[in-house]
Amino acid sequence: MPEAAASPKTPDAAMPDSGFEPPRHVAIIMDGNGRWAAERGLPRSEGHRRGVEALRRAVRAVGELGIKILTIYSFSSENWSRPVTEIRDLRGLLRHFIRNDLAELHKNNVRVRIIGARDDLEPEIRRLLEEAEQLTRSNNGLLLVVAFNYGGRQEIARAAQRVAELVGAGRLRPGDITADVIGRHLDAPDLPDPDLMIRTSGEQRLTNFLLWQAAYSELVFVPGYWPDFDRTTLENAIAEYRRRERRFGGLKARGGP
Ligand code: IPE
Ligand code: IPE
Ligand code: MG
Repeated sequence: MPEAAASPKTPDAAMPDSGFEPPRHVAIIMDGNGRWAAERGLPRSEGHRRGVEALRRAVRAVGELGIKILTIYSFSSENWSRPVTEIRDLRGLLRHFIRNDLAELHKNNVRVRIIGARDDLEPEIRRLLEEAEQLTRSNNGLLLVVAFNYGGRQEIARAAQRVAELVGAGRLRPGDITADVIGRHLDAPDLPDPDLMIRTSGEQRLTNFLLWQAAYSELVFVPGYWPDFDRTTLENAIAEYRRRERRFGGLKARGGP
């Protein structure tokens, strides 16, 4: 994947002729597996299974297009409210993905990191997630950030707890708590914010994903369901990103006069 990322042979809308930088960090809300299956008279589990195939395609395409970081929303803090059978299917797929794909990801120099609440996960899942991080920790190709048992509000609350501990220990004054300080106590504080956030399935909401980090992300909502996601979907989203003018509260577009 890193070779592909560095490769110049990607002449398409996403890869520019002049001066356009592809987004460094793309975040994806992978939505619509259930509806994809329902439209075909299939069980939701089949939609999730096909969703994993779409994830493999997405990881490959992201690497090929020179994107450095991909954050995927794989299970939200609120998804526990689904039927236990579906939760079991989703957990099974995560297990399957890590067991079957980890070696391949590692071979492709992908580094895996996990964000979300880990403490309340069952030990077997926690071990799998840790194994993925440990095995790939020295890789320097694509960074794949998996949001599992993740909620943006919960992440901000965790950061607030960490900061409160510093205050309690007398190492920080309340008046010194800035947005930067909170940001440094999030689950992956060293990562740049997502430049582009994509949500499939036509829903236009954040569903508690990266609430803090998405402050200035460009949001692109695509109508297709996640199992149909492919490189063309990604290229179209990047082409849309390319048409946006990012101002960050200022007046001038990036690269403007
Ligand atoms: C996304 O697809 C997968 C996860 C939430 C893990 P959904 O399961 O939400 O599919 P829809 O939105 O019901 O179609
Ligand atoms: C899909 O979220 C995003 C995930 C993959 C976790 P949901 O399908 O749970 O979102 P809502 O409930 O429609 O907002
Ligand atoms: Mg959904």
